[in-house]
Amino acid sequence: MATVHPVPAEWAARAQITAEVYAEKYRAALETPETFWRAESARIDWIKPWTKLSQCSFDEASFGIEWFSDGTLNVSANCLDRHLAERGDVTAIIWEGDDASQQRRLTYRELHEEVCRMANALKALGAQRGDRVTIYMPMIPEAAVAMLACSRIGAIHSVVFGGFSPEALAGRIQDCDSNLVITADAGMRGGKLVPLKANVDEALLQCPGVGAVLVVQHVGNQVTVAAGRDHWWHEQRAAVLADCPYEEMGAEDPLFILYTSGSTGKPKGVLHTTGGYLTWAAMTHQYVFDYRPGEIYWCAADVGWVTGHSYVVYGPLANGATTVMFEGVPNYPTHSRFWEIVDRHKVEIFYGAPTALRALMREGDDWVKATSRQSLRLLGSVGEPINPEAWEWYWRVVGDGRCPIVDTYWQTETGACMMTPLPGAHALKPGAASFPMFGVVPQIVDGDGNVLPEEPGVAAEGNLCITQSWPGQMRTVWGDHERFFQTYFTTYRGKYFTGDGCKRDEDGYYWITGRVDDVINVSGHRMGTAEVESALVAHAKVAEAAVVGMPHEIKGQGIYAYVTLNAGEEPTDDMRKELVAWVRHEIGPIATPDVIHFAPALPKTRSGKIMRRILRKIAEGDVSNLGDTSTLADPSVVDSLLTSGR
Ligand code: WTA
Repeated sequence: MATVHPVPAEWAARAQITAEVYAEKYRAALETPETFWRAESARIDWIKPWTKLSQCSFDEASFGIEWFSDGTLNVSANCLDRHLAERGDVTAIIWEGDDASQQRRLTYRELHEEVCRMANALKALGAQRGDRVTIYMPMIPEAAVAMLACSRIGAIHSVVFGGFSPEALAGRIQDCDSNLVITADAGMRGGKLVPLKANVDEALLQCPGVGAVLVVQHVGNQVTVAAGRDHWWHEQRAAVLADCPYEEMGAEDPLFILYTSGSTGKPKGVLHTTGGYLTWAAMTHQYVFDYRPGEIYWCAADVGWVTGHSYVVYGPLANGATTVMFEGVPNYPTHSRFWEIVDRHKVEIFYGAPTALRALMREGDDWVKATSRQSLRLLGSVGEPINPEAWEWYWRVVGDGRCPIVDTYWQTETGACMMTPLPGAHALKPGAASFPMFGVVPQIVDGDGNVLPEEPGVAAEGNLCITQSWPGQMRTVWGDHERFFQTYFTTYRGKYFTGDGCKRDEDGYYWITGRVDDVINVSGHRMGTAEVESALVAHAKVAEAAVVGMPHEIKGQGIYAYVTLNAGEEPTDDMRKELVAWVRHEIGPIATPDVIHFAPALPKTRSGKIMRRILRKIAEGDVSNLGDTSTLADPSVVDSLLTSGR
């Protein structure tokens, strides 16, 4: 039996969502959605209120997803302008640099001015409503400024994580025909310089459509400035007005594209729109973290990922929160860094990824205990399953047994949180994503699509689907609506399939068991095995490659690559190094293979399909039970795999 931590009395008394309120709101969202969403969407300022709640269907004939479609609003006005009268002098962003001596604070009024200026600068560089603007930035306030400036003028931003290589950046710029890039001279992570501008220069050799680059001076390193194309932000900033009227956007106008990995093909441009996304991000930010204005809140994600979009920028700023942005890494200069930041800024809510916790846990409790952490009242986890051991450490050592942990399950596609325990409503079970958000209807199906019925006291395990739309759902894959439908709505007809395995226990708690498709989760970074494979086969000496996940103590999953070299190539250690460097160049350091296993051949069925099940077992070190290999075209391949080189 798993441990259960009951709702602390103090939380039951003070939380906005108690057990009763949760039950009532969950029921209301499903039974009287019009009334429920009328009230919840009123947290947003609408220019023209909506009259149509939603038109959503997951069926092929009538497929479509729209929420609040005739309403109009502007996201940056919601995150900034409407706070000015009452909260203009409240801190919007607390920034801490990689170097702890660097700190900045921006009030809502200051942030508003920066955003207006950048919006004007973007317009001066030719950006128009509907244009795609690529943002490739370190974790500095200007990253948020850039996102908000785009939303102010109705441009669609595509943030690309600063850890991606020039190759990967170029692919994303090309896919959405972006004509403008916002970047910085460099970023700093763990004392090391990340040469963002130089990466952009390299990427743009392949992107003739980009006419302008806006460069934030952050580190002060030497960079090349291409005349006519590259513009310093500080120069542009000084040349434009401090005010910029915002565009009136339709609720279904695109807000941003964010590339994410799937089981096949290139990363997909997940498209989120304006009204539903903002309502969903703001609502979940308030309820999940029991957020109240004035509280200091820190989500340690990078804006290059969806967590950074919804819970560093849009959710908190829509709610008038004080949001912390941290440029650096958890273990620099020491393993106390996270908790020193908590103490320095009196952080009350901390939201981070299990991979960081596991890495810190390994270093011992003293690094944590050297800090006070008295300001903390709530902890959150996101991005990957949190193992009970890390959960208990988080609870006992970081939170001193005092702070509930919200283990929030969601995806780039879902916009914001889909399942989580709520601190004032649900007893906590370490590792359980627990219960669905309002409006979310989960369903567990078996491999054939049969729904596993929900019966009190009966556990079920299978694949996780969501049966009906919610406001924060992605609307399409940029440029490929058919792929959107095919990817998510055809495995189980009429349902959104998450790609995740899931079990529901006897008490009705949901537990995410991990991906059931060819997506792996490495240090909370989502990666398609197909992407790493196509990077490997792009190498001149590689004949074939197959990539699977392997269990990894810190990263959650590691990357295990089987590689067959071209005839005549030697499987040496130098070749291994060459291939690792190659993948880092093609995708970025986050895709660094942990194991390169030189395989004379890959196990294939007679129809030529690689049998990944066998490759996964070998990668897991579980070779005693490889299952049925009789359908292989050449069963002896398995023996050669077991004796060949890792
Ligand atoms: C996994 C990140 C277990 C899951 C917000 C999902 C989780 C994928 C959790 C999405 C969690 C995310 N417990 N698994 N609390 N949160 N996942 O798109 O496999 O980067 O499908 O979004 O991460 O990753 P993405």
